[in-house]
Amino acid sequence: MTALAAHDLSGLRILVTGGAGFIGSHLVDTLLARGVSEVRVLDNFKNGTHHNLAAAQLDPRFSLIVGDIRDGNTREHALRNIDVVFHLACLGVRHSLHDPLENHQVNALGSLLMLGSARAAEVRRFVYVSTSEVFGTAQYAPMDERHPTWPETVYGGSKLAGEAYTRAYFRTYGMDTVVVRPFNTYGPRSHFEGDSGEVLPRTIVRLLAGERPVIFGDGKQTRDFMHVYDTSAALALLADTSGLAGETLNLGSGTEVSMNDLCEAVAVAVGRPDLVPVHDIARPGDVRRLLGDPTHTASLTGFAPTVEFADGVADLVEWFKKMATENPDRVNRIEDRNWVAMEAV
Ligand SMILES: NC(=O)c1ccc[n+]([C@@H]2O[C@H](COP(=O)([O-])OP(=O)(O)OC[C@H]3O[C@@H](n4cnc5c(N)ncnc54)[C@H](O)[C@@H]3O)[C@@H](O)[C@H]2O)c1
Repeated sequence: MTALAAHDLSGLRILVTGGAGFIGSHLVDTLLARGVSEVRVLDNFKNGTHHNLAAAQLDPRFSLIVGDIRDGNTREHALRNIDVVFHLACLGVRHSLHDPLENHQVNALGSLLMLGSARAAEVRRFVYVSTSEVFGTAQYAPMDERHPTWPETVYGGSKLAGEAYTRAYFRTYGMDTVVVRPFNTYGPRSHFEGDSGEVLPRTIVRLLAGERPVIFGDGKQTRDFMHVYDTSAALALLADTSGLAGETLNLGSGTEVSMNDLCEAVAVAVGRPDLVPVHDIARPGDVRRLLGDPTHTASLTGFAPTVEFADGVADLVEWFKKMATENPDRVNRIEDRNWVAMEAV
């Protein structure tokens, strides 16, 4: 298998759903840097921001459609003259705990609707960005693509439904589809607030504010972290790498970090080793172990991650320090149990 012109995507017109979000906006930047003819973002700004697209919006090859993937006219408009779709729009795991129905509607139904419209628009390739959460906790590690899928949350279930629909569009209609399962992604623009907040940025923000980090449960649960620069570089490869039709690919680093180790790494990077963690109750549906086997993806795409965890954490600490200087109020608003209902269930 060959990565065709991995660093030169000129000629391609690409739609990124969820492109105003954390990973999507980095993917947009990467695609523009790789020379694509056009990048279009479809996002309803439920969790995305214009700030994430500040650099992209200066580029004449970039355009933005503000709308919902569940709306037919919006999809048709967004997909006109598009070669490749990266489908990232979704609602996250904590959201699924307090609004499982909407989570399903966006993640599962929304993906099926996107597939149907992309097929009608005759796109060349449809890349479905799934998640390692479809696996549930590791039954063996490292987890390869054939590891059983027993998701423990509605989020994991709804993302798995999207995967199944994507593979069905390959099998049933011969559409060129690729499913990719990132493990935990971190880096600049990652969410630290509300129900999108991720453990690493939240921990950094707390320690920078001089507060002890909070670990839910015993802290021995592990995750496989990949820096968003690596995640977006890997995703960009999927736009034109040959021989991927119908494939399902893991996107993990092959190394695991426990929550206890994570807190220690952040304390070192922040220079506050005295701020030892506080333990709270375990989160509902929190999987114990996630560790991806990266070999299948590496063999098909040639991809290998480049950012070491300690370097990525140090870089993210600097990024949050800058944000705290520019916008001190924003980083002061952080609640602990961010899965608890923020609206009626
Ligand atoms: N962040 C991670 O660690 C991680 C890990 C594995 C997989 N993923 C997957 O990567 C993708 C992106 O995740 P992220 O962390 O960047 O999340 P994000 O919340 O930052 O991005 C998702 C985007 O989708 C948009 N969106 C939500 N509902 C929409 C709708 N109905 N119509 C249009 N847009 C809508 C949001 O506004 C947001 O900008 C998701 O598919 C997620 O499942 C993320």
